[in-house]
Amino acid sequence: MSKTYSRIISTGAYLPKKILTNKELEKIVDTSDEWIKQRTGIEARHIAKGEETTSFMASKAAIRALDNAKLSGYDIDAIILATTTADRTFPACAVTVQDNIGMEDKSFAFDVQAVCSGFIYALSIADNFIKAGQIKRALVIGVDSFSKILDWNDRTTCVLFGDGAAAVVVEATNDENSMILSTHLYSEGKYRNILHTDGGVSLNQQTGYVRMNGQEVFKHAVKRMSEAIDEALKANHLTADDISFLVPHQANKRIIDSIAKKLKLPHEKIILTLSKHGNTSAASIPLALHEAVSDGRIKRGDLLVMEAMGAGLTWGSALVRW
Ligand code: UT7
Repeated sequence: MSKTYSRIISTGAYLPKKILTNKELEKIVDTSDEWIKQRTGIEARHIAKGEETTSFMASKAAIRALDNAKLSGYDIDAIILATTTADRTFPACAVTVQDNIGMEDKSFAFDVQAVCSGFIYALSIADNFIKAGQIKRALVIGVDSFSKILDWNDRTTCVLFGDGAAAVVVEATNDENSMILSTHLYSEGKYRNILHTDGGVSLNQQTGYVRMNGQEVFKHAVKRMSEAIDEALKANHLTADDISFLVPHQANKRIIDSIAKKLKLPHEKIILTLSKHGNTSAASIPLALHEAVSDGRIKRGDLLVMEAMGAGLTWGSALVRW
């Protein structure tokens, strides 16, 4: 009997209507378009307003991914939704999406909290559920509304993040020419204080704001994400020369450039959406993937490397034969 793997069959995305440019940010905090562009590569970000809650954005992205696969909610066995900014403390954002897209009662839906690494974690969980034979098809969603947990007086964080959602449909396959080859996940809790919120349910019954030691996170990000990519390539007996595209977490262009340099990847092999989206946390990788799939850059058979680092610290990689 041939082995069961999982493959991504479609993508979908949603970005809030409101775009906030660096120039507009200059009116809110003591910053400049030049500083933000030079230090991060970010030029603008989308900001969720009104009805654009986390579950709203996730549902839109999910429906678009389903449409692109010519499927409906009825065809999905599970939703695995990565977010740090769910609508409510409970229930999970995923169950609202489950209801919004009309899934069957016997399906299940839950949230995963690994902050900016959330999409890699959620994809890994879906891949393993499918390989274990428990489900046939999953929606994996990365969505965040970081604008709601930013201290808009703190220029060291508020210029970095944006809101958005993207989803992929993952399904069982026996085709070794189009599959998720591997996922590698890591966390190191001793670094939880370098990126965190200063509030929470059991701590002080508040949501809290994002607090970050940017330089510390930067150092870990380059080192750990490079290691996670090396490990993924080695586990699959591949080298950096085999990579068609790097689909990185979009936090800082300097981080992405350092990783690409280590891999000796030319810039046309790097999918970058950072300048338009900022850091959208769990949504950043699937948003970049969606853009490059939609514009025809990524084609079936390409080898994709995805990598992320987020608060925790959490990090990981996914190697995908598209
Ligand atoms: O997605 C989760 C993972 N997150 C990340 O990967 C983020 C990693 N870190 C970073 O991307 C960078 O560390 C930042 C973009 C956050 C900061 O860049 P940096 O080059 O590390 O700047 P810095 O923190 O060393 O600050 C340099 C200077 C400071 O001024 P002084 O002390 O040199 O006078 C800051 O006060 O830049 C100042 N600064 C700003 N100036 C204008 C900090 N933020 C701003 C700002 N506008 N928004």
